Amino acid sequence: MPSSVRSLIATCLTTWSAICLPVRLPAEEPAPHRVIGVAGCTAASCHGGKSLVGGEAAAWLTRDVAHRRAFDVLFNESSVRMAMQLGLKAAHTEARCLACHSTQEAHPGGVKGERFAVEFGVGCESCHGVAGAWVARHTERTWRSLSMSQKADLGFHDLRPVNARAEKCAECHVGSPRATVDHDLIAAGHPRLAFELSAYHALLPKHWDAAAELQRDPAQELRLWAIGNAVSAKALSDVAVARAEAATKSGTKHVTPDLAEFDCHACHHDLTEPTRGRPTLRDSLGSPRWGSWSVPPARVAARESHQLFGQDGAAAESSLGHLAKLMQQSRLGIAPADQLSLAARQASADLANWSRSLEYSTTEPERMNQLLHRLIATESESEWLPTWDGQVQRYLGIVATSRALRVTSGHEPFSFATNADVLAKLRRQLAYPVGYATPSSFDPSAVNHAIQELRQNLAR
Ligand code: HEC
Ligand code: HEC
Ligand code: HEC
Ligand code: HEC
Repeated sequence: MPSSVRSLIATCLTTWSAICLPVRLPAEEPAPHRVIGVAGCTAASCHGGKSLVGGEAAAWLTRDVAHRRAFDVLFNESSVRMAMQLGLKAAHTEARCLACHSTQEAHPGGVKGERFAVEFGVGCESCHGVAGAWVARHTERTWRSLSMSQKADLGFHDLRPVNARAEKCAECHVGSPRATVDHDLIAAGHPRLAFELSAYHALLPKHWDAAAELQRDPAQELRLWAIGNAVSAKALSDVAVARAEAATKSGTKHVTPDLAEFDCHACHHDLTEPTRGRPTLRDSLGSPRWGSWSVPPARVAARESHQLFGQDGAAAESSLGHLAKLMQQSRLGIAPADQLSLAARQASADLANWSRSLEYSTTEPERMNQLLHRLIATESESEWLPTWDGQVQRYLGIVATSRALRVTSGHEPFSFATNADVLAKLRRQLAYPVGYATPSSFDPSAVNHAIQELRQNLAR
């Protein structure tokens, strides 16, 4: 981290000097596109207090290290290398990088408020919405009586609904028509994005009362899993819509999807550093799968949706399947842009409808238990491919379900204690080796063996 930033943060945490706190609420006129910056939220009487409630900014500054240093990493060695390979001037001045690594580009055409500092990385307004038009209003008594859509009109994102939360995270962690991490970026050294909401949500240090949230919604973990997968697949569909439209506009009849959306290991048999394997196009499973990371779990969740939440996911499952098929063909250059655009639009709409239906629907331990059994018991390769993507997503589904079961039923899932060791083993097998940014040592047969052990333990 540049020392200037470190000292800025240190100053803000100790003295709340002028740069950190608005002495009074912003004197600036309310402006819908004004990004006020982290410093605009940190007054001790606002979110800069000492306890968790009222101290959200202090909690964020000290705990959410990844987001707070998201701008700083644009100075590190791999960013410098990336910028060089991509022919960029410098990563930290590049709109393409700042789109996800700062709050600066949070709002197209946004203007910066007096106290805005890009150094704070992914700050408050990246998630809660550009605050120029609501920062003053939200401290007034009347704020509570505004409806969600009135607040949204002012640019405020209410992140309490899991759907709203998932959409925000997906903008940067999956990609959007505004910015993606494509194969060029990855080939230049950017880590591949492999986002799964229940896991990332668990990893995110909270600056809010997460325990209270869990008490209100004991099935939260499973809701995060299902909605997160729906929203991730929707984000992928929305990027596809944008590409298809751009192709149509420029008079190109066919769309070439980006290689980053396919299964890396289909082409890269040994993605290791520093002697990265040369890509070969041989693949035991046929041509590389489109959406190998996001599509299978979304389809499984959609299929399970009725049993689990009493909500029908059939339309979403089938239109996502149709889109995947078209995308698969488009790599060979045979899917027309207009057809792709229609299919992607349909998938996006169906996924959104289904995903919203899960927001407040209820479930119960018995149904979770059945899901857990199915996740472990299925041997069908059409559900979870014997690839790293397929097996990691299955593992994450198992973990989310067992966590939700633990919360709702108050004890370990059925025979789960015996499975703890096996799960730990599975996790080790799926983890990246130390010092690698890719799963270079993934061994499908070892993983399969561990899954079989889980299956046997469940049968007992
Ligand atoms: C679509 C959003 C997006 C764009 C565009 C993007 N990044 Fe990232 N970047 C991410 C996310 C999300 C992560 C964290 C990945 C994870 O850990 O899951 C990340 C991680 C990184 C890391 C690794 C940080 C670490 O802790 O090791 C570097 C370096 C990086 N990005 C640099 C860049 C540069 C340079 C650019 C522009 C050329 C760029 N990024 C563009 C979203 C993006
Ligand atoms: C990575 C996204 C993200 C960032 C960055 C972020 N927040 Fe949050 N924040 C959330 C989520 C998710 C919640 C939980 C949902 C809710 O209560 O609104 C939350 C909750 C809150 C709450 C409500 C707490 C409660 O108990 O109701 C406040 C206040 C808040 N954040 C302030 C801030 C401030 C101030 C910053 C910047 C210093 C910030 N947040 C940065 C995502 C974020
Ligand atoms: C404006 C873009 C943006 C948004 C919105 C965003 N993130 Fe991030 N997130 C990033 C970037 C960039 C990084 C990597 C930064 C770094 O390495 O320091 C990151 C890192 C993380 C990490 C650390 C990952 C690791 O490998 O250790 C977690 C966990 C995370 N984000 C969760 C979330 C969740 C959950 C949400 C939604 C509530 C969210 N993020 C919203 C951009 C974003
Ligand atoms: C259809 C085949 C294909 C798929 C799928 C694919 N790649 Fe590639 N990749 C290539 C080819 C060909 C190159 C060499 C040309 C280039 O740099 O674009 C390459 C280059 C790379 C490089 C640079 C290698 C080096 O030695 O500099 C990295 C890293 C990489 N890919 C990672 C990935 C990741 C991660 C994924 C999955 C998200 C992926 N690739 C998906 C074919 C593929």
